[in-house]
Amino acid sequence: PAHRPLYGKHVLVTAGPTHEPIDPVRYIANRSSGKQGYAIAAAAARAGARVTLVSGPVALPTPPGVDRIDVETARDMADAVRRALPADAAVMVAAVADWRTEDYAPEKMKKRGSAPPALRLTENPDILAMVSVSDKRPKLVVGFAAETEKVLEHAKDKRKRKGADWIVANDVSGSVMGGDMNLVHIVSAKGVDHLPELPKDEVAVALVERIADALNG
Ligand code: C5P
Repeated sequence: PAHRPLYGKHVLVTAGPTHEPIDPVRYIANRSSGKQGYAIAAAAARAGARVTLVSGPVALPTPPGVDRIDVETARDMADAVRRALPADAAVMVAAVADWRTEDYAPEKMKKRGSAPPALRLTENPDILAMVSVSDKRPKLVVGFAAETEKVLEHAKDKRKRKGADWIVANDVSGSVMGGDMNLVHIVSAKGVDHLPELPKDEVAVALVERIADALNG
C-alpha cells in the first residue's frame, strides 16, 4: 500500500556515538545526540518496515515499532550489525569513534605522579565499509558524512571509498550537532539530491521515501 511502502522490508539503522573506554570511569567518544538516526528508524517503521536500530549510548526513547539493540563500543556495534543482517537497506548514521585505546586500564587511572598518561590508540572497524563488502550486503547501503567544509567533494570521495550506494552529506558547520534541524545532500551514482534545511524528522521522512523508491523501483 502507498502509505506503507516499506512493508515486508528489513531496514537496519545505526545511530548515536560509540564509547571507547579508557578505564572504568573515562571514555573516548564522538559528539552525537542520535536524533537523526532515531528519526530515520522511526520514519522507516512508520513506512511499514521491520526496523533494527543498533544504538550507541544516547538519551532518547525507542521509537514505536523499532527493535533496538544497545551497544557501547565500535566493536560491539560491528558485532550487532553483523548479527542483524540480512537487511534490505542499511542506513549507517552512527558517529563511530575512529580509534580506541590499545590498553584498557581495568582500574581507574590515578592523577598522582608527574606526567599525564599517554594514550596509545588503535583503529576501530569501519562498520559501513564492512557492510558494503559483506556477502549479506543489503541492496541499498547508505552512509552519512558529517563535514564542515568541501562537503560534497568529501561525500563523493567517501561514497566510493566505503562502497556505499548513497552518502548523505551533512553540513555540520552550523548548529546541527544536538540541534533539531539538518541540512543534507544525498550523493548517489546518479548525482546529488539537495534537500532544503529541514527538521531532522522531515529529513528522515524524505530519506525514507527515497529508500522506498530505491527498494521498490
Ligand atoms: O569516515 P567517516 O567516519 O566520516 O564516515 C562516516 C560514515 O561511516 C557514517 O555513515 C558512519 O556511520 C560510518 N562509519 C562506520 N564505522 C566507522 C566509521 C564510520 O560505520 N568506524
